[in-house]
Amino acid sequence: GKVAVLMGGRSAEREVSLMSGAGVLKALQGQGVDAHAFDPAERDLSELKRKGFKRAFIALHGRFGEDGTVQGALELLGIPYTGPGVLSSAIAIDKVMTKRVWLAEGLSTPRYVLLRKGAYTPEQVAAVPRELGLPLIVKPAREGSSIGLAKVTQAKAMAQAVEAAAALDCDVLCEQFIAGDEVTCPVLGSGDSAQALPVIRIVAPEGNYDYQNKYFTDDTKYLVPCGLPEGEEAAIQALVLKAYQVLGCRGWSRADVMIDAATRTPYLLEINTSPGMTGHSLVPMSAAAAGIGYEALCLRLLAAARL
Ligand code: DAL
Ligand code: MG
Repeated sequence: GKVAVLMGGRSAEREVSLMSGAGVLKALQGQGVDAHAFDPAERDLSELKRKGFKRAFIALHGRFGEDGTVQGALELLGIPYTGPGVLSSAIAIDKVMTKRVWLAEGLSTPRYVLLRKGAYTPEQVAAVPRELGLPLIVKPAREGSSIGLAKVTQAKAMAQAVEAAAALDCDVLCEQFIAGDEVTCPVLGSGDSAQALPVIRIVAPEGNYDYQNKYFTDDTKYLVPCGLPEGEEAAIQALVLKAYQVLGCRGWSRADVMIDAATRTPYLLEINTSPGMTGHSLVPMSAAAAGIGYEALCLRLLAAARL
């Protein structure tokens, strides 16, 4: 039956989603799937049913796509979709809610302070560096691709960083900075049969894996095999698998992790329930290292689509 590749959307990651969607669409069509691009920013999702679409591949990122809203609409329409369901998506889009779940399950994530737009005072902002130390990270609780993210190295830069993040989200997450190795690890599958793929170590120019270095420069190095001691890679995979399972994820996701250089403790940063599928994206690289090519990956995700 007809497959809709949902791409574009109206989040700040629209541009990234269009790149992910283009890759997925081409791969599925190349494998003989009757796949069509569908942009929920331009068309009403209810059209999917009227036009006879049988399944949806979600290549949307950020709010109104990765956050449970589109998943909920597809549930109501009765159209099976790729990736995690409504609850997992809604929690995972929110980095603070995600931390609360992980902390309750005893999983390590950097310490944080939540500031709410309209409710925080200059004194509270000034207190954050004392609480978390410097440098620290400021980011909107519900954005992706490093949009609105700042690494604050001096207390006097706090106010501006918080204001910039608050322009994108009412919840601003201030997070302890973990100096060390930046790694990411995808998970495929569901429940007990879910499995972690190879870990990728990211080495960005001056440690700055920002929007430009994520998608538009070739200056970032992606190491897979990651070159970490074998026990360490296995420990990260186990941690990420647990992080995925406690959120009830299914289909796929990709968790981002920092390894403290001094203690070698891995800290979970977040989990992306609709990971990038662009030419620079990480899940395809890790899958390739596991012998799963881009087309095979798309087919496998589509085959696991459900309600
Ligand atoms: N948020 C981007 C799409 C990613 O994590 O891959
Ligand atoms: Mg993200």
